[in-house]
Order: sequence, then structure tokens, then C-alpha cells
Amino acid sequence: MTPKTFKIKSFGCQMNVYDGERMAELLSAQGMSAAGDGDEADLVVLNTCHIREKAAEKAYSDVGRLRRDDGSKPLVALAGCVAQAEGAEAKRRSPMIDIVVGPQAYHRLPDMVAEAVRGARPVDTDMPAISKFDAFPQRRRANPSSFLTVQEGCDKFCTYCVVPYTRGAEISRPWSDIVAEAHALVDAGAREIVLLGQNVNAWTDGDRGLADLIRALAAIDGLERIRYTTSHPVNMSDELVAAHGEVGKLMPYLHLPVQSGSNGILKAMNRSHTVESYLATIEKMRRARPDIALSGDFIVGFPGETEEDFEATLQIVDAVRYASAYSFKYSARPGTPAATMEDQIPSEIMNDRIHRLQERINTHQLAFNRSRIGVDTEILIERNGKNEGQMIGRSPWLQSVHVETDARPGEIIDVTLGAAGPNSMAGAVREKVAA
Ligand code: SAH
Ligand code: SF4
Ligand code: F3S
Repeated sequence: MTPKTFKIKSFGCQMNVYDGERMAELLSAQGMSAAGDGDEADLVVLNTCHIREKAAEKAYSDVGRLRRDDGSKPLVALAGCVAQAEGAEAKRRSPMIDIVVGPQAYHRLPDMVAEAVRGARPVDTDMPAISKFDAFPQRRRANPSSFLTVQEGCDKFCTYCVVPYTRGAEISRPWSDIVAEAHALVDAGAREIVLLGQNVNAWTDGDRGLADLIRALAAIDGLERIRYTTSHPVNMSDELVAAHGEVGKLMPYLHLPVQSGSNGILKAMNRSHTVESYLATIEKMRRARPDIALSGDFIVGFPGETEEDFEATLQIVDAVRYASAYSFKYSARPGTPAATMEDQIPSEIMNDRIHRLQERINTHQLAFNRSRIGVDTEILIERNGKNEGQMIGRSPWLQSVHVETDARPGEIIDVTLGAAGPNSMAGAVREKVAA
């Protein structure tokens, strides 16, 4: 029976969230509708992540849980990076799976659903020349802060990472498509756009780079804020740094993963930057935009990481004073060079290091938030808070700010920042003083 309702569950990075939104629009354009919260759907799309072993295993346990109490099951599509990595093998691992669709083949999803209804179990993990973006319908819905993928894939081949295999080579969407999508999002109510790419700052169209794109988007009326993520240190151009000092709508926040504070480990990771080159970029950025909030990613326990290497990572955390940062225990991924390196680190050591690293990161996170106490700023209201009358918005530095207000999602309001925790701040509405 042709499915009437669908549910899409996205895991992993923001690009999966974006893809999930676009697949929902594609299925809606075929006449299906999104199942309500708590309702069963005829078609379930699991939009999976392969980055670490835990994330990949979760995909299969989630598939298992889709069997209903009466023994029946929805049509199940495995999408995302696990689908890409496992291909037809996924069908052998789980008889529950009807469709396997990789991240570059989403335009084929409606056809694949029709094939599955006829009893086939189609697999498509091609990385075709035709772009999935061309097949997605025009954007009609937007969040106050909306994602817009401008770049996909990765040519960097860090030795621990699956992304070059699951997302393919670096490609940039054309300038005019991005500008058109940004306009559609703003018309649908977006006040902020977050430009996305696995290497977003490698985006290019002809001789234009991400800084040119940001300057063009800043001219769109009604768009108030621009962000971008994730950047690679090697692609952090002077033009992009300069834009942070010159484009008012570009928010003072930069996510720039370093992974390790040890040059030996960075080399083994094939990161193609050093501690010194990374810190030089950070310094340039601080000169261009002194209040910039810096964020990063870290991996502890990469093969061969010594206590000395790890201490160097703590040192770079202190040197940069991150406003926020994500840290992960190294996870050996099949097919990556690091998986077969000698000196894999035992899990007790990894546990100890991640704990110490997270403590250090938290200290800086709290210090950054405290440094904003008493600051007058604007927040973009995104959603309801836990308590009646309370809303949650984002500061320019991407902090979650809790505030008592009757402002609705999408409004930008003036606040004074108050009490600070490690993960959020309180804000008080500031009345506009008549000039
Ligand atoms: N393209 C981005 C993000 C890639 S994935 C970048 O280059 O920074 C997000 C983060 O997951 C990475 O920054 C890294 O810190 C982490 N990660 C990737 N592969 C991993 C692995 N095998 N084990 C643990 N963490 C990993
Ligand atoms: Fe993975 Fe490295 Fe590419 Fe980032 S730059 S996606 S960590 S290979
Ligand atoms: Fe995960 Fe794929 Fe994103 S592996 S982090 S969903 S690119």
C-alpha cells in the first residue's frame, strides 16, 4: 500500500538535519503528510550518522525498534551516512530495512518508495552528477534560524574520519541557487541563516569564496543574522577573517575544530595545519573581531597519543579560551587509515583524558559566559522555555538565553545578560528608551 504518512528521524550533524527537512518537503510534494508526534507513520526514514561506532550501531537498534506490537512494521528507509557506508549489506543485517538511500541520492527517494511498495528492496548509494538539490521543491517553511547547505563532501581525508567516504568529494552549490534559497527562507520567516558544509569555508563558485557569498546574503532585507559551520583551519582565508570585522550581520562566533594540541598527532591525523598555524588564525580573527566566541572539536585517544600529547591539547584549550567546544573519544572506523595504526589507546586512558579535557573546556565556557554578565545585546527568540512565560533565544555569541517575555519565535529583542551557567545565561528584557 502506498504510504500516506511519514516520519523522518535525523541523527548526526546539522547537514543531516538539513537533508531531513528537504526529504520531508520532497515527500510532502508527493502528497504524503508528516505523522504527528506519537502517531505511527506508514514510512519511517532513519537519517543516520556513521562518524563514531556508537552512532552507527544506534542506527540498527533504532531499526529494530520500529516493529509494532501487533508484529506489523512501517516501510523503513535507511538514509544518511550509515546507508552510504553499508549499502546492500544493511539489508542483509536487518530484514526490516526496505530502502537504502545514500546522502547524494535523496532525489530518488519517491521512486524508491514506489519500488518498495511493489515488493522490491531498492538500494541507491550512487554519487550522481545530478544534484539532489535540483530535485528538492522550493522552500516554503523556515525556522527563525534556518540551515542552508552550500557545500558538501570532503577532500581532506583526516586519517580517522569517514566523511570523505560517506559524503564524497567536496562540491559547492552554485551561487545563484544559494541566493535564491536564502530569499525563499527569508520570505518564509527565517531571520537567521546558518550556511552549512562539511568544509563550509572551502565553498567556491568561480573566483568567489564564502566571504563574497556572506557579503551578498547580508544585503537581503529581513535577514538579520548569518552564521556558517563547519570550517577547516586550512581554508580560513584572510577575506573570511576580514568579513567578521566588516559585516554587521555576520555573528561573532566561529567553530574551528583543531582536534589536538600536539603537532605529532596532528600530522598523524593528516590535519594539514599545525598548532602554530591554527593559533595564528585565531589571533587574526581576534584582531578582526575582538569579541568573537570561539568553538572547536577535539579527539582524545588518537592512536599513539601520549600523556605529553594530551597535555598539549589542554594547553591549546587554555591558549584559545574556547567559549564552547565538543570533545570525543577516538573511535576506530572501518576503512580509515587510523583504524589499523599501532598503539591504539585503551579505553580507561581515553575515559580519564576525556574527563580532564571536558573539565577544562567547562571552565572556559563558564568564564566566557560570566564575561558577558551585564552586557546589553539582542537575542533571536527561537522557542518556548520550560516555565510559563519563559522563552529561549540565542545571543550573537550563540549562547542560549532564558528570558521572561511575551515575544514570539522569530522576534529579535533587546536584553541585558544576567546569571551565567556553563551552558546558558539568563536575560532580562531591556525597554527601548525613546530617542
Ligand atoms: N568537517 C568537520 C567535522 C567533521 S565530523 C571538521 O573537519 O572539523 C565532527 C567531529 O567529529 C570532528 O571534528 C571530530 O572531532 C569528530 N570525529 C570525526 N571522526 C571521529 C572518530 N573516528 N572518532 C572520534 N571523533 C571523530
Ligand atoms: Fe573528516 Fe577531516 Fe574532512 Fe573534517 S576535514 S570531514 S574531520 S576528513
Ligand atoms: Fe555523521 Fe555523516 Fe554528518 S557521518 S557527522 S551524518 S556527514
